Amino acid sequence: MSLLTTIKKTGRNLEGMIAGNAAKRAGDMDILDKLKQEHEEAHELLEKIVDSTSGSERKSLVKKLKGALIPHLRAEGKVVYDAIIALRDKKVKQDGAEGHLEHDLAERTLLTLLKIKNATSPEFSAAAKVLKELVEHHVEEEERDVWADVRENFSADDRLQMNRDFEAAKKKVRVPA
Ligand SMILES: [Fe+2]
Ligand SMILES: [Fe+2]
Repeated sequence: MSLLTTIKKTGRNLEGMIAGNAAKRAGDMDILDKLKQEHEEAHELLEKIVDSTSGSERKSLVKKLKGALIPHLRAEGKVVYDAIIALRDKKVKQDGAEGHLEHDLAERTLLTLLKIKNATSPEFSAAAKVLKELVEHHVEEEERDVWADVRENFSADDRLQMNRDFEAAKKKVRVPA
C-alpha cells in the first residue's frame, strides 16, 4: 500500500470514529450491560439478606434492596418489556408479558417482606428466600430469552438510547415508603 493510500485510509477511519463518537454522550452504555450490573447488585443484596442472622442488618439490607430493585423493575418494564411487546413476534411478546408478571410478583413479595416486623422470624426468612428464588429464576430467563430478543431486534445505538431512557425512567419512579 502506498503512503498516500495509507494516509487516506487512516483519515477515513478517523472521520468514522469521530462521527461515531459524536452521537455518544457521557455515561453511555449498552442497556444490557447496565442491567447486568444491577442484577449482580440485587443478587448480592439478596444473598446477604438470606445469610444474615442480625435483624437490624436484614432490615437495612431490605431497605437498600427496595431502593434499587423497584426502580429497576419498573424502568425495565417500561423501556425493555414494552419495547419487545410492541414487536410482531408472538414468542417475543410472550417473553415480555411473562417478564411483567414476574416483576409484579417480585415487587409484591418485596413489599410483603418489608411489612414483617421481626426480621429474625421464620416468616421473614421464608419471604426472603422466596424473593431470592423468584428474582434468580426471573433474572436467569430474562438474561437468556429477553436479552436475545433485544439483541435480535435492536441495534447497538438503539441499546444506548434504551439505557438513557432506562436511567430517565428510574429517576421518575416513586419508591413506596
Ligand atoms: Fe432485570
Ligand atoms: Fe426483570
